[in-house]
Amino acid sequence: MSPALLGLHDVQKWFGGVHALKGVDFTLAAGEVHVLLGENGAGKSTLMGVLSGAIVPDAGEIRIAGEPVRFASPRDAHAAGVAMIPQELDLVPGLDIAANLFLGNEITGAGVLQGRRMRDAAQELLAKAGVALDAGLLVSSLRIGERQLVAIAKALAADARILVMDEPSAALSSVEADHLMRVVRDLKARGVGVVYISHRLEEVARIADRVTVMRDGQVVGECPPQAPQAELVRLLVGRPLSDLFPPRASRVGKPILHLHRAAFDPARPRAGWQAPRDVSLTVHEGEIVGLAGLMGVGRTELLGALYGFGAVGRWSGTVEMRGAAARLGTIGAARRAGIAYVTDDRRGTGLVLHHTVAQNTLMSIWRRVTPFGLASRGLERRRVAEAMENYDVRPRLPAAKVVNLSGGNQQKVVFAKELMNGPSLLLLDEPTRGVDVGAKTEIYRRLRGLAEQGLGVLVASSELTELLGLCDRIVVMRAGRTVHAFGADAGEDAVRAVCESGDEERAA
Ligand SMILES: Nc1ncnc2c1ncn2[C@@H]1O[C@H](COP(=O)(O)OP(=O)(O)OP(=O)(O)O)[C@@H](O)[C@H]1O
Ligand SMILES: [Mg+2]
Repeated sequence: MSPALLGLHDVQKWFGGVHALKGVDFTLAAGEVHVLLGENGAGKSTLMGVLSGAIVPDAGEIRIAGEPVRFASPRDAHAAGVAMIPQELDLVPGLDIAANLFLGNEITGAGVLQGRRMRDAAQELLAKAGVALDAGLLVSSLRIGERQLVAIAKALAADARILVMDEPSAALSSVEADHLMRVVRDLKARGVGVVYISHRLEEVARIADRVTVMRDGQVVGECPPQAPQAELVRLLVGRPLSDLFPPRASRVGKPILHLHRAAFDPARPRAGWQAPRDVSLTVHEGEIVGLAGLMGVGRTELLGALYGFGAVGRWSGTVEMRGAAARLGTIGAARRAGIAYVTDDRRGTGLVLHHTVAQNTLMSIWRRVTPFGLASRGLERRRVAEAMENYDVRPRLPAAKVVNLSGGNQQKVVFAKELMNGPSLLLLDEPTRGVDVGAKTEIYRRLRGLAEQGLGVLVASSELTELLGLCDRIVVMRAGRTVHAFGADAGEDAVRAVCESGDEERAA
């Protein structure tokens, strides 16, 4: 038998006192899609960091086509044919797409950068990855899902034998995710070995040749790709999980947010920023309302404009909070109105990475814990401990720097921080991106619990199954407009059809 394309043997890694990899074995064959599953903090990204040269292991061996290799840097891994789409994208926002695609591999002719050629080659790469974006756009102007697509194109540019995708679909809507599945199948047909990490279990059966589950730094089992999701979940979280979603609202109260034919006029319109143009919806006390739609229809922009984040401008039409006209448009106004916001970009806007979990958690209430300008260390400590417990932030180390937490645990810190303030309306954009299935259940349960106490929630998600399971109502958007509203009993196909169709109806 020929040796595996890739073999990782008995890999160990310590981060200070954290034993992140406890002797992991992992193999990959040419043309194989090997899905790697595991809870937040299980060690998936660390293992792939070892493979891609970003992390030097404390012990263990890497073999490529049977030959032992040693990667001291990503450059070494790259030279050996390993490419990686990291979980937290490493694109440079201030450069355009073309420059990002060729970063470190710039095309030069006679020592001069060949801008034109690079732009053309970049456009070709984008086309190959099925991405309809202009290579001249600045990465900073792209939404999260589009950045993911660019990162995928960038990895494809490397022409690798081994491609690691660390949650590549996390911010993609169903259409883009379908496309990603096709790209992966195409790579497979060309003999590329793909490691695919995802928390979206419904993807497993669609692309996996093999499934490995990690927990707590170890491989705990393999699963046939066709295994029922319940089986995957049991291996993943180590116990059966009865219900992913909590029961829906038993009753709703008065309207908190009411928009009728509301539009937002940005002071400085930006290409690609879909301003809310005609939005009608109401969020009541105790209600969780979902925003559905394809990438770019303006869900993120709607939430951002309500919170005063992402653009300066003015609302027109009816914009009411608790029955009174509200002047929203700045973060200060939003917070005074009792609005909290969890963005879809935890690195860019949600967290201060080099601060500790405790500092980040307390950020939104600093003035409240110190009512007389005096910090109460004991009270602070209690609030942080409580929040970490509530949102199951692991490891339970308030002094840990956020940058060192796993992706899913960073997201839990964002939650803890935003809800610390006791808001009356919570705006959520991709709230469970990168969060494992066990922790998702916890977050859903907690949201429902807060709603039962009178909180209203408006949540945008690219995962339709999440909206269908969680929400009391789902409002579909297209091109900055609300076009249809569904009740809790809506079927997935019906909602999907409205998201993807072009004819316009008005939301109730
Ligand atoms: N640079 C670091 N310093 C300290 N601890 C770290 C560092 N990187 C990772 N860890 C810890 O190692 C463990 C494994 O983290 P890793 O990022 O590999 O998890 P993961 O399986 O990718 O999780 P997720 O699904 O949340 O992305 C976690 O406990 C994490 O806090
Ligand atoms: Mg990870």
